[in-house]
Amino acid sequence: MFLIGTSTATMNIQFDSVRKYSSSLKITAFLLLAMVNSASSMTTKCPFSRIFLLGDGFSDIGTSANVVPGLSIPSTRFPYGITFPGTPNGRWSDGRVSTEFVAQDFELPDIRPYFPANNSLRNNGVIFAVARSPVLDLEFFRSRGVDFPPYAVPLKVQLQWIRSYLNSVCSNSTDCSAKILQDSLVILGYEDGNDIGYPLSQGKSIEEVKAFVPLIRNTIIDAARELIKMGATRVVITGSNPLGCFPYILTALDNSSLAAYDPLGCLKSVNNLIISKNNDLNLAVTRLSLEFLNATILFADLYTPLQTIISTTALLGTNPLKACCGIGGRYNFDENRFCASPGVPFCANPNRYIFWDGLHLTQETFDRITSVVLPVFRPLLKCRLI
Ligand SMILES: *[C@@H]1O[C@H](CO)[C@@H](O)[C@H](O)[C@H]1NC(C)=O
Ligand SMILES: *[C@@H]1O[C@H](CO)[C@@H](O)[C@H](O)[C@H]1NC(C)=O
Ligand SMILES: *[C@@H]1O[C@H](CO)[C@@H](O)[C@H](O)[C@H]1NC(C)=O
Repeated sequence: MFLIGTSTATMNIQFDSVRKYSSSLKITAFLLLAMVNSASSMTTKCPFSRIFLLGDGFSDIGTSANVVPGLSIPSTRFPYGITFPGTPNGRWSDGRVSTEFVAQDFELPDIRPYFPANNSLRNNGVIFAVARSPVLDLEFFRSRGVDFPPYAVPLKVQLQWIRSYLNSVCSNSTDCSAKILQDSLVILGYEDGNDIGYPLSQGKSIEEVKAFVPLIRNTIIDAARELIKMGATRVVITGSNPLGCFPYILTALDNSSLAAYDPLGCLKSVNNLIISKNNDLNLAVTRLSLEFLNATILFADLYTPLQTIISTTALLGTNPLKACCGIGGRYNFDENRFCASPGVPFCANPNRYIFWDGLHLTQETFDRITSVVLPVFRPLLKCRLI
C-alpha cells in the first residue's frame, strides 16, 4: 500500500536534523557517529531476496560499458573509480553508486550488472540500468532532433532485458518467473531526468519539454503495471533530481539574468519543471497502488535530499555546483573536454564535492542521499533491523 503521509512526515524529520547540522556541527557529528556505531552492530532482514533495477547512470554498475562492444566510454577510463575500487570499472562516479548503498543496506550485496551477462540465480539481483538512458524511446527523441549516446537503452528495451533474463533462468516456465519477481524488490530508477536534461541541453525550450511529462509518466507506470502482472509485489519508482542544479544544465542554459536563478544558484525554470514532473509521477504512483492492492508500490523522492545536501554544502562555504572532474566555465564543465579526456583535471578530495563529472554524483553524495532515504523505505518494505 502507498503510505505517502508516513513517508513525508519521516522525511521532514530527517531534513530538520540535516538543517541543524549547519548550526551545531559538533553535536550532529557526535550523533552521526553514534548512529553509525549502532547501525554497524545491526543487520537488516528484508522479506525478499533479490533486487532488480531498471534505470540510468545513478544506478548503472557497469552495463553501459558493455552495451556497444568496442566502444570506449569515459566511465572505463581514469579517474572514474578512483575512490572505489581504485580503478575504473564502468561506474559513472569516483566510487560506488546509489544501487550499491541500497543493496548493502538491505543485506543483498551481491548484485550484478546485466552485462557482462551472468544468468545465475545465486546472486542477489541484476542491475539493468544504463547511464544516459531515457524513459522514452530513442526514436521519439531522434525525430525531434535530440541525440543520445549510442549506448543509451530506453525503458522499453530494459524491460525486454528483464524478461529475457527471467526466461533464461527459468527455462521458459512463467510460474518460475512470477515466483522470482514475487521474492524481489523491483526499482524503476530513472533519477537523472535524461528525458528532460538531454532535450534542454540541446536547445529545446522548457515549453517543448513540458509536453513530454505525461508520456514519461505513462511509460513508467505502464512498465510498473506490466512487472506487477508478471508477478512483482514490491515496486519502488523514483522521482528525478533537481536537474536545474547540475553543472551540464547550468552550463548549457547559462542566463545573464539573475532572476533566472534561485538562492542556491540553480535554474528555477528547470527545477520547477522537474518538480511538476515528480508531482505528476507521484500522483500516478498513488493511483497505481489503488489499482493493485496486492502489491506495495512506493514513490521515492530524491529531489529533496539532494537539494538539502546542496544547501548545507553552500552554508559550509563551498561552491556546491562545480563538478569535481572537469574543466572550464563557472561549473568546471565543458562537454568537449569531459571528465577522463586527456588533460582534464579532477579535484583532490571528491568527498567534498557533490557532482563528479557534471552529469553524475560523487560516491559521498550517493551515500548521503541513500542514508536519508533508506530509513524511510525499510519499514515500508517490511525490512527489520535485527
Ligand atoms: C555469476 O554469479 C555467480 C553468483 O554470484 C558467481 O559465482 C559467478 O562467478 C558469476 N559468473 C560470472 C561469469 O561472472
Ligand atoms: C496482483 O494482481 C494482478 C491483477 O489482478 C495480477 O495480475 C498479479 O498476478 C497479482 N500478483 C500476485 C503476486 O498475485
Ligand atoms: C533568462 O531568464 C529569464 C528570467 O527567468 C527568462 O525570461 C529568459 O527567457 C531566460 N533567457 C534564456 C536565454 O534562457
